Amino acid sequence: MKEKVEELLKEIQSFDANDQNELEQFRLRFISRKSVVGDLFQEMKNVPPEERKQFGVLLNDLKNAAQTKFKELISSLESGGDTSFAVDVIDPTLPPPADKLGGIHPLSITKARMIEIFKRIGFNVSEGPEIEDDWHNFTALNFPENHPAREMQDTFFIEKDPDIALRTHTSSVQIRVMENQKPPIRTLSPGRVFRNEAISARAHCVFHQVEGLYVDKNVSFKDLKETLLYFSREFFGKDTKIRLRPSFFPFTEPSAELDISCFICNQKGCNICKYTGWVEIGGCGMVDPNVLENCKIDPDIYTGFAFGMGIERITLLKYQINDLRLFTENDVRFLKQFRSVNW
Ligand code: PHE
Repeated sequence: MKEKVEELLKEIQSFDANDQNELEQFRLRFISRKSVVGDLFQEMKNVPPEERKQFGVLLNDLKNAAQTKFKELISSLESGGDTSFAVDVIDPTLPPPADKLGGIHPLSITKARMIEIFKRIGFNVSEGPEIEDDWHNFTALNFPENHPAREMQDTFFIEKDPDIALRTHTSSVQIRVMENQKPPIRTLSPGRVFRNEAISARAHCVFHQVEGLYVDKNVSFKDLKETLLYFSREFFGKDTKIRLRPSFFPFTEPSAELDISCFICNQKGCNICKYTGWVEIGGCGMVDPNVLENCKIDPDIYTGFAFGMGIERITLLKYQINDLRLFTENDVRFLKQFRSVNW
């Protein structure tokens, strides 16, 4: 018996595998359950009890030698460039490798969270075309012809006379909704928008917005404030404060910029809020009566509020990302960090 083990040991040590077939032969002869080594283990029961222990040690050494050799053969074949056999040597008894599933893009996470928060208070979602006519992107929104506000938005024109352009905001979708639905209207328009701006860490020519619109009888500025406060607390944390700063948009009157208290430094001052304690997250206001009229909604009966926020901006703030270009570069090292984020 001892001689047999030593003979096998020699055979193992001098074995050389030049390809996948020879490797498989080695596996069948020395590793698999029906291998000669396996047979010897079976024979244990015929060994007299007083020799069993010694025999067991010998057999274990043989088994280990076979396994070590097997690994050596694999790595020498691998370093020789032959990887075809790798599939065959997968051990099916091992736990499966970690899931290689992709994650959700951070902008999609933010968008979905925003929609979910507004849905809870009765907003639905509307979508519209990315290529828009002048009426929906500008005129119906009370941008007077030749008014500098049109320039303010650095439009990408596709055709002139009549003007066709890439939408500069999703307010265009709100016009489409108001033209086609009767109040009460409570809708969100998330989507991609385009402005002719140089790409930098802080600006991009393609970005995303979520705009909101509420039109009904007796909608007041107080409703706007409450809605924005509710959203800010749900999204950024329950102690968030909001501040509205007077501003101008052609389609709202009065208009305001929406700031939230800096949740990063708790208003102590940091470089995100530029030591002011506040960060801007969007624009808002009461829908201008001219806009309602343009959509055949009677401004003497109905009033409304609207707001718009940039999804990139909110995502940058939320995850403290310092360069907007990361969102479009598709670097998996960046994207992987959001794999476990739930929404
Ligand atoms: N449409 C504006 C923009 O893109 C944002 C906005 C929407 C402001 C609604 C006020 C009301 O800048």
